[in-house]
Amino acid sequence: MTTQSAQAPPPERLQEDFDATIAHDQRIEPRDWMPDGYRGTLVRQIAQHAHSEIIGMQPEGEWIGRAPSLRRKAILLAKVQDEAGHGLYLYSAAETLGTDRAELTQRLIEGRQKYSSIFNYPTLTFADVGVIGWLVDGAAICNQVPLCRSSYGPYARAMVRICKEESFHQRQGYELLMTMMRGTDAQREMVQDAVDRWWWPSLMMFGPPDDASPNSARSMAWKIKRHSNDELRRRFVDMTVPQAEKLGVTLPDPELRRNEQSGRYDFGTPDWDELTRVIKGDGPCNAERMRRRRSAHEDGAWVREAATAHAAKQAARARKEAAA
Ligand SMILES: [Fe+2]
Ligand SMILES: [Fe+2]
Repeated sequence: MTTQSAQAPPPERLQEDFDATIAHDQRIEPRDWMPDGYRGTLVRQIAQHAHSEIIGMQPEGEWIGRAPSLRRKAILLAKVQDEAGHGLYLYSAAETLGTDRAELTQRLIEGRQKYSSIFNYPTLTFADVGVIGWLVDGAAICNQVPLCRSSYGPYARAMVRICKEESFHQRQGYELLMTMMRGTDAQREMVQDAVDRWWWPSLMMFGPPDDASPNSARSMAWKIKRHSNDELRRRFVDMTVPQAEKLGVTLPDPELRRNEQSGRYDFGTPDWDELTRVIKGDGPCNAERMRRRRSAHEDGAWVREAATAHAAKQAARARKEAAA
């Protein structure tokens, strides 16, 4: 027996330790042993989340130059920058699992990794900026607050800060809509039209229904995910309906009503065929989002080359100083 194999715990023991950590609601950290499936699931989920933050800058970014006042421009600029920051935290969290950010970006631009379906819808008016803040960031909060307790340490910690910022995004969106609802009839119509277009895609952000989401159960057993897609979707509806009433908009679902027994809301079924089409690349803006992401990557090539050359120069200087 070699010294190394005498020191390494047997595989069953590693699995037992991992299972015990999960069972005790403790965190798995980058240097801990983890099953390949756990690592692969996390890389896929965190990368998809990171890509969504970065692609999600596009629909709202289109309105920075057209915001109606300096104040609205400053708020929107800060929000879009926050999303870039979220992407960076998440790529860093993915790198702790032994992946490389450049490789993840490559997978995105080659269409081998996905991003959230929601960002394949167009932003037609400035009211869309408010509705994205209210509904899309609101749905993101419902999804992400439980991820602050995810079993993988770096992911859970990244989510704490991200959720604080998402909460601010939701409030700024709601405040913008409230301002428009106090304005003219044309502004109120603009808000209602945006709500009509974004409501169903927002519900689809939670993914397919539980019986069509085969990987969910495994993610929940590993405590990467804490609640099922359908439960998160219900929580979002429960949270949002009273806000819609206060705002004075109608949610475009004739089946939406309060269930007196459960105290929660019953609601209609999203068009799952639409979700499948959008995920497969056939949404209104998929091609445009990918085209812009690819061209931004190509335009940034010189920055990456310059940063690499600078790092090499610094390293050479450090070596020379160490040798002197
Ligand atoms: Fe974000
Ligand atoms: Fe956000």
